[in-house]
Amino acid sequence: MTDPQLVLTERVQQALANAFGAEYADADPLIRPSQFADFQANVAMSLGKRLRRAPREVAEAISAQMSDFPGTVEVSGPGFLNITLDTSWIADEAGRMLADPRAGVGQSTPPQRIVIDYSAPNAAKEMHVGHLRTTIVGDAMARTLEHLGHTVIRQNHLGDWGTPFGMLIEHLLDIGEDAAVAQLEAGASTEYYQAARAKFESDETFKTRSRIRVTTLQSGDPETMRLWHVFMDATIRYFNKLYDMLGVTLTDADIAGESMYNPMLEKTCDDLQAMGVAVVSEGALCLFPPGFVGSDDKPLPLIIRKSDGGYGYASTDMAAIRYRVDDLKADRILYVVGADQALHFRMVFAAAEQAGWLPDTVSAEHIQIGMMLGKDGKRFKTRSGSSVKLMDLLHEAVDRATAAIDDRGYDEVTKAEIAHAVGMGAVKYSDLSVSHDSEYVFDFDRMLGFTGNTGPYMQYATARIRSIFRKGEVEAAAVTGPITLGEEAERALGLHLLSFGSVVEQVGILIEPHRLCAYLFETASLFSTFYEQCPVLKEGVDAETRASRLALCALTLRVIETGLDLLGVPVPDRM
Ligand code: ARG
Repeated sequence: MTDPQLVLTERVQQALANAFGAEYADADPLIRPSQFADFQANVAMSLGKRLRRAPREVAEAISAQMSDFPGTVEVSGPGFLNITLDTSWIADEAGRMLADPRAGVGQSTPPQRIVIDYSAPNAAKEMHVGHLRTTIVGDAMARTLEHLGHTVIRQNHLGDWGTPFGMLIEHLLDIGEDAAVAQLEAGASTEYYQAARAKFESDETFKTRSRIRVTTLQSGDPETMRLWHVFMDATIRYFNKLYDMLGVTLTDADIAGESMYNPMLEKTCDDLQAMGVAVVSEGALCLFPPGFVGSDDKPLPLIIRKSDGGYGYASTDMAAIRYRVDDLKADRILYVVGADQALHFRMVFAAAEQAGWLPDTVSAEHIQIGMMLGKDGKRFKTRSGSSVKLMDLLHEAVDRATAAIDDRGYDEVTKAEIAHAVGMGAVKYSDLSVSHDSEYVFDFDRMLGFTGNTGPYMQYATARIRSIFRKGEVEAAAVTGPITLGEEAERALGLHLLSFGSVVEQVGILIEPHRLCAYLFETASLFSTFYEQCPVLKEGVDAETRASRLALCALTLRVIETGLDLLGVPVPDRM
């Protein structure tokens, strides 16, 4: 553990216990970064009240217990503790971190089994930018939690089942399998869906055929299942193209769509009814989890079997939560899904608890994804008002990146690789850098900017550090230090680098990747200041200082690259 704030927390707690008794050993010392010292601890203020002693006196007592501490503790004002670490301690810790293959990131013991439900586009509707965001946030969390040592089970809960498939299959027969496959693979599912829908509404025989098809699909008729597979396989090939383009870790093995739960739905409903958790209301089988009331003050139902016997979204989620707990043996289940589904998930979780399917030892969390907005502040659409094809959007990002990057005479292949990394990095980073539940304006100009907290800025920061090593003809991975921190800018960078591990850990606990972005951005900014003020390769820099500064560069590079990798943001070699 190198995070100074954590080291200090423990050290002050120890002082508290020594000064006031063991019962104070886990009081929060309220340590915050400070402008007057490295950190300030405010615990004496609240403790003073509790002990009926002057806070200043309490602070003196704490500080008296910290004489062996590698730094200085000063009492100021009414009883603040201003804490400054010894620069040599920071330097030693930074050196240790450089030697650590995990760069200070711990591994959770015991590891948890964490199910992450993310991406989950609907085959029968459009895959919109909202799904892009759950894909990117979910994937960043899958990478981060895996790096923290957990067993991550990705579940792509595709919308691949339900009544619309009757009409989608009939439309496939009308236009022919090849034409349908070509259209779906090209990502034109919205057009496909709309054409089917239009016929359904205007053509009675098509409507009848579609209805019959739903029944044959549900009964598992082999030829209908074959057609369903033709439709789904083509759709999944398009999703996979998007995942490839984005560099997302989802594979076909992670697909656990709604159709997978179909065979479990009857039993799910029957079991819930048998234990009295589900009751029939107005012909439909409903759950009434406690604490949910509608605007009419009546208990709010979660319908799991419609009066016509059909199943829906909620039935599937009840089956899925049971499967994830019982079969996948999850300790933690993360649903990375649009914020507009908050009520649905609260009700599903409450009902699952009521049924005993979600024990206290398992946590189910809805990681709410805020809506993507256009520059006009409304739901993101193209100029013509139609929905945006995701592949077109990603290609546009790469095209704009191509125009934005410097042409340094790279060959076409290198240039294309850089543009791809910058374009995808820009889109992904901008999704990750704001808190996942806030609404968010999709703006190419901002996300592709080379200044501010953007993907390209972060990528550029790594390219710049790497060019230092190229120029110095030194292998970054071979640098060992020792690190000494002479200048203020070096010390500030060194101190900041030490908290990388605990930031990653926090991101894993809170599921807030934007904290990692903010941390990395601060790292890059502190590095810039350091690099402006502290020459590394310049003539006249003595060998020892040069080695130490190179070590600081190497550690910074490791931290930023590792961080970007955990976020799933690609890092081009040069820019
Ligand atoms: N397909 C759904 C949608 O697009 C998201 C599914 C999320 N996962 C779940 N278990 N309900 O809205």
